[in-house]
Amino acid sequence: MSLQNIVILGTGGTIAGTAASTSDNIGYTAAQVGVDQLVAAIPPFAKLGPFVTEQVAQIDSKDMSFEVWARLAARVNHFLAQPDVQGIVITHGTDTLEETAYFLHAVCRPAKPVVLACAMRPATALAPDGPQNLLDAVAVARHSGAAGVVAVCAGTIHSALDVQKVHTYKVDAFDSGDAGPVGYVEEGSLRLVRNWPVAHAESAQIAIKMIATGVIPAQWPRVEIVMNHAGASGAVVQALQAQGVRGLVVAATGNGTLHRDLEAALLQAQAAGVRVLRATRCLNGRVLPTPGDVLPDSRGLSPVKARIELVLQLLAGN
Ligand code: SIN
Repeated sequence: MSLQNIVILGTGGTIAGTAASTSDNIGYTAAQVGVDQLVAAIPPFAKLGPFVTEQVAQIDSKDMSFEVWARLAARVNHFLAQPDVQGIVITHGTDTLEETAYFLHAVCRPAKPVVLACAMRPATALAPDGPQNLLDAVAVARHSGAAGVVAVCAGTIHSALDVQKVHTYKVDAFDSGDAGPVGYVEEGSLRLVRNWPVAHAESAQIAIKMIATGVIPAQWPRVEIVMNHAGASGAVVQALQAQGVRGLVVAATGNGTLHRDLEAALLQAQAAGVRVLRATRCLNGRVLPTPGDVLPDSRGLSPVKARIELVLQLLAGN
């Protein structure tokens, strides 16, 4: 291994997807090509490698689970602990990329770069975006001073905290909202516009507890997401409560508003011991706390990231 060793972990996704026709960008099967093959298909890697590669999973990321995340976090931590590893790149589907990014950010809290690479078009496409995204991800992982969990897509570097998939089809499918991107990759060079992400204290506590005890729980606390909308009722909350849900994230409207019937059900669930967090279904902005809020806000986390945070908090016994 050289001092600048980069590890590339494969998890599947469209970047590893194949279709029957080169003109088909949507009718493909994700997670078909192995990470070794993806790396071998990028000629400039011949000069940058060799890389350590490992297939941690081979799935369409819509099927991502806490079990796969735990396995991935263990491999990330294993490689991060090696002094000759400079950074880690993870190939991943776009659909739940922001969730994996947040999970690794919270649990691994890497001082080295952990870079998620993805694609909107399958590997068999006439003009696949995966090879360039993977090349750019390696450029980020090799960058001196790079740190934390980020995602690279269409030449833009997004922090794990802010990244969200915002488009169903375009190759530039991700956005960092109000925060803006960390920077850009331009012909292999980085143009940074803000700091690398740092894990916040709350996640740190939880992560330390998990990692210190090496826990991979047989059962993860069940946390579900419910949404506020016109005509929302408390029925879903009550049904979930009857099934023993431990936590609920509500994707509220606007600045955290809730239909009165849904709010009543959430208050009742919280009083009965279910942990509730209020996020917003708006793509930008956050729920601004006001004095006397009974249902706590998600501190700027989107509903899917707030769900992960709540699972980790419940796991840590908070
Ligand atoms: C996936 O998320 O695994 C499939 C979709 C994609 O990668 O764009």
